Amino acid sequence: MEVKTSLLDNMIGVGDMVLLEPLTEDSFIENLRNRFDHNEIYTYIGSVVISMNPYRSLPIFTPEKVEEYRNRNFYELSPHIYALADEAYRSLRDQDKDQCILITGESGAGKTEASKLVMSYVAAVCGKGQEVNKVKEQLLQSNPVLEAFGNAKTVRNDNSSRFGKYMDIEFDFKGDPVGGVISNYLLEKSRVVKQPRGERNFHIFYQLLSGASDDTLRKLKLDRDFSKYNYLSLDSANVNGLDDAANFRTVRNAMQIVGFMEDEVQSVLELVAAVLKLGNIEFKPESRSNGYDESRVKDKNDLKEMCELLGIEQSVLERAFSYRTVEAKLEKVSTTLNVSQAYYARDALAKNLYSRLFSWLVTRINESIKAQSKTRHKVMGVLDIYGFEIFEDNSFEQFIINYCNEKLQQIFIELTLREEQEEYIREDIEWTNIEYFNNAVICDLIENNQNGILAMLDEECLRPGTVTDITFLDKLNTVCAEHQHFESRLSKNSKFLTDHSLPHSCFRIQHYAGKVLYRVEGFMDKNNDLLYRDLSQAMYKANHKLIKQLFPEGNPAKVNLKRPPTAGFQFKHSVGTLMRNLQTKNPNYIRCVKPNDKKAPRIFTDSLVRHQVAYLGLMENVRVRRAGYAYRQAYEPCLERYKMLCKQTWPHWKGPTREGVEVLMADLQVSTEEFAYGNSKIFIRNPRTLFSLEEKRRGCLENLAALIQKIYRGWKCRTHFLLLKRSQVVVAAWYRRYAQQKKYTQIKSATIMVQSYSRGWKARKILRELKHQKRCEEAATTIAAYWHGTQARRELKRLKKEARRRHAVAVIWAYWLGLKVRREYRKFFRANAGRKIYSFIMQRLMQKYFLGLKRDLPSMSPIGGSWPTRPYRFLDTAHTELRSIFHHWRCKKYRSRFTDERKAVFEEKLQASEIFKDKKALYPSSVGQPFRGDYLEISKNPKYQKLSSAMDEKVLLADVVNKINRANGKGTARIFLLTKNNFVLADQKTGQVKASVPLPDLASISVSTQNDGFFALKLKEGSAGATKGDFLLSSEHLIEIITKLRRTGATAVNHDHLDIDISDEFLVQFKQDKVCVKFVQGAPKNGNGASCKRKNNRLLEVSVPSTA
Ligand SMILES: Nc1ncnc2c1ncn2[C@@H]1O[C@H](COP(=O)(O)OP(=O)(O)OP(=O)(O)O)[C@@H](O)[C@H]1O
Ligand SMILES: [Mg+2]
Repeated sequence: MEVKTSLLDNMIGVGDMVLLEPLTEDSFIENLRNRFDHNEIYTYIGSVVISMNPYRSLPIFTPEKVEEYRNRNFYELSPHIYALADEAYRSLRDQDKDQCILITGESGAGKTEASKLVMSYVAAVCGKGQEVNKVKEQLLQSNPVLEAFGNAKTVRNDNSSRFGKYMDIEFDFKGDPVGGVISNYLLEKSRVVKQPRGERNFHIFYQLLSGASDDTLRKLKLDRDFSKYNYLSLDSANVNGLDDAANFRTVRNAMQIVGFMEDEVQSVLELVAAVLKLGNIEFKPESRSNGYDESRVKDKNDLKEMCELLGIEQSVLERAFSYRTVEAKLEKVSTTLNVSQAYYARDALAKNLYSRLFSWLVTRINESIKAQSKTRHKVMGVLDIYGFEIFEDNSFEQFIINYCNEKLQQIFIELTLREEQEEYIREDIEWTNIEYFNNAVICDLIENNQNGILAMLDEECLRPGTVTDITFLDKLNTVCAEHQHFESRLSKNSKFLTDHSLPHSCFRIQHYAGKVLYRVEGFMDKNNDLLYRDLSQAMYKANHKLIKQLFPEGNPAKVNLKRPPTAGFQFKHSVGTLMRNLQTKNPNYIRCVKPNDKKAPRIFTDSLVRHQVAYLGLMENVRVRRAGYAYRQAYEPCLERYKMLCKQTWPHWKGPTREGVEVLMADLQVSTEEFAYGNSKIFIRNPRTLFSLEEKRRGCLENLAALIQKIYRGWKCRTHFLLLKRSQVVVAAWYRRYAQQKKYTQIKSATIMVQSYSRGWKARKILRELKHQKRCEEAATTIAAYWHGTQARRELKRLKKEARRRHAVAVIWAYWLGLKVRREYRKFFRANAGRKIYSFIMQRLMQKYFLGLKRDLPSMSPIGGSWPTRPYRFLDTAHTELRSIFHHWRCKKYRSRFTDERKAVFEEKLQASEIFKDKKALYPSSVGQPFRGDYLEISKNPKYQKLSSAMDEKVLLADVVNKINRANGKGTARIFLLTKNNFVLADQKTGQVKASVPLPDLASISVSTQNDGFFALKLKEGSAGATKGDFLLSSEHLIEIITKLRRTGATAVNHDHLDIDISDEFLVQFKQDKVCVKFVQGAPKNGNGASCKRKNNRLLEVSVPSTA
């Protein structure tokens, strides 16, 4: 985006007319045209903004633009209405200066739009918050309401404001809006009853008929058809681009936001409807006996409806249209009205009704938007008022309007000069007198209380006798004839006697903006603004709250015989108030100019603009602004802008800025008459000086730009080069790395390949050698095998040959024997046939039997007892034999599946049976018990860890046995361990070994034949263990212990067959004594096992419970 730091940058034409050189009307207009063609619709004259109506929407009022102009200095950016609004708002907020924004210009020049732009800008930049937003909204929404009732389509503007408006917006100390007051000036009420060709009545009439619902219209007794109403012109009822129906909704919505109650809105609409109805009332003459015509209402329907709407008694209003009562002191005279007077009365009533309604609306809006707090507020006034009007036919309204503009010009001159003067004093600049035209003399011509035109008009209106517009002109001709700004054909001033451009019924005033010719016709009437009292009284009697309020003078209790103030007087009064108000404020001017008459964009009509420039007094404005010094600028921005023009100030000036500017100006050799140093600003007398400075600056900027470009390009190239260089290094490094990596991988794979080839070659070589070796070995074996084979075959051949020989001998012998036998037994041959048959049958039966047996073979389980039944008795023996063979065979098959351990178990069981079967009564009960061997789990049980570790051989059996005490026959529990070479007795609790006997020392074992677990281990005499004697023990696993002892003892080294003695009486050697152990049958078994008792020194008796 283009960045501006000064109005002087990128200017199209000149942005400030003060700088226009040469200053002529032509150059002024050319500058406006130039800027207008480039969409620059705003141009300054100092702090005044000239605004050209673009007649199209330009993208310069966006929220971004608001931000751009927010808090920027006035001359910092291109001219814009926002710059003026910002300046005004900031000096109001920050310096507590009340502001007024005076917007003037001719109809359609864009005053109302400008005022709305100012208001919307202020609304956008001021504070926010719920309350503040509500106030803002109410202030902004007052516009559509007033526009609906006060604006109309005219030939010059489709939305022409037909009233002057001044709005005071009030702000609190923070700059937030808190309320406002609106004043309205001179509504063009004649429009209510009659509109010029191509124009419309006020918008609200059309909006109501187009936009109201059918129901509302029915209530208001209205018809949607415009043509039904005399007061509505038909030729331009519909305006392009104006949507009356939508606008009606907007207005209703706006009224609601502003705070109108529903019944108030209804009353307002009723009044509007009443005005329309009033226009439809027509009159007819009715002859009276005195020869005069008296008016009568023609068709009473509209009158009736209007009276119903407003709650007026129909007869009262009807009478008011036929009679007029004139009261003078105590007398009351009633005169009849003729038809034209009745029409005059009707129209007067309609105009009054509408204009009073409008004033009431303004008051009502003011009530809503007034500031709540009573404290002093900062005020910003916005004045949107008609500019100078110079038509072909100028009447009372133009006179009044132009008077208002004279007053505004006066204020402008006064305030501008005052401001200029104040600035000079502030800045310590010598004051040079400014030559300008002071229009006070014209104001005096109009408003002077003694002989001013307005005073004359009032005097004429009040004067008894016949008074007409002509008598008024005569009066002017006599009183004002001498005035240098008053011109009249009939005045004493002879110089206009021959001026044919000045008709007899007219007078001319030389306004500051140009000469205006006024036709006096209607001046008296319009100034009088008469409404017959009968009408106002009829209105007052209405049963309608609002109507009653609008016609207070109709109250019979307050009959005022004094004439109401004239329109001229009222206007002068309100203009006076307005001027006093404006004088207390800091003025800001927006001068609106209309570029063409066609309401079309992009057309600039020279003559039209020239005309406006003249009557807006814009040239005068520029001259006043330029009277002293054309241009001024604070030292800092000035130095900042031009410092490049001097070596001492470029690029930085260290000292005070004023000194910098002084050095700069001295260096540039600007003539000292051309400028003056103020306290904070430099004042430049002539725009030429400024432009020469600008010219030099432009040249210098170009050089600087070239320098910056040069440095920038150098920097850019250098940076680019360095970047390339750095990149090249990085790329090279990466490439080298990549190349090396690739080379390395190639070398690596080549090495692996060479290695693999070499290894392969070596391996193949070894393989070849090994194969060769193996082949050699195989060859030897093969040769040996072949040799053995050859030998074997030779031997076989020899044996076969021998066998064949022997066989041949046998065959020959058999044949010989056979021959011999056959010769001998030929005679018995037949007897042998029976035997042969028998043997054949037998063979067949045997075959069948064996095949059947093969099919029905019983199960392979060794304990399976089934066997097929015998088919023939003669096979009995063979059948039994085969059964036994089959059983042995399947037992063999079963055994062949046994593992070695299982085989050992069965061998043990077999051995046990060999030892004990049918010899000891305990044996049968042991058959079903598996021989577990290690009952104590000696290696796993931590209790026997010590004992287990003391054993250096594998423990084959571990069990708890009772060692029988030889003294009393009682048993003590001992752990009995059996290893490959020893048996060991150990203490059951401590695991301490009590005795360890090598198996070869064991001579024999004695047990009883009975069902008890006693057994004696007898040791060989003279062996190491025999010193303590034999062991008498008892165990629950006696059969297993003895079997194991026998098996282990049999394999123990140097140990012969271990004897097992089974008898019920045997001797046991205890130390020196031999004791006999005798087993006797005791009482039947009752749960206790066998018990042992010492009978005497030589006998131990074991009582075994009988099993029966
Ligand atoms: N800044 C603008 N941008 C676009 N269009 C504009 C602008 N100003 C004015 N106009 C157009 O010109 C028309 C007339 O403007 P506006 O009603 O403000 O004139 P006015 O000076 O108030 O006239 P009057 O004295 O008749 O009330 C507007 O309806 C609008 O179409
Ligand atoms: Mg307007």
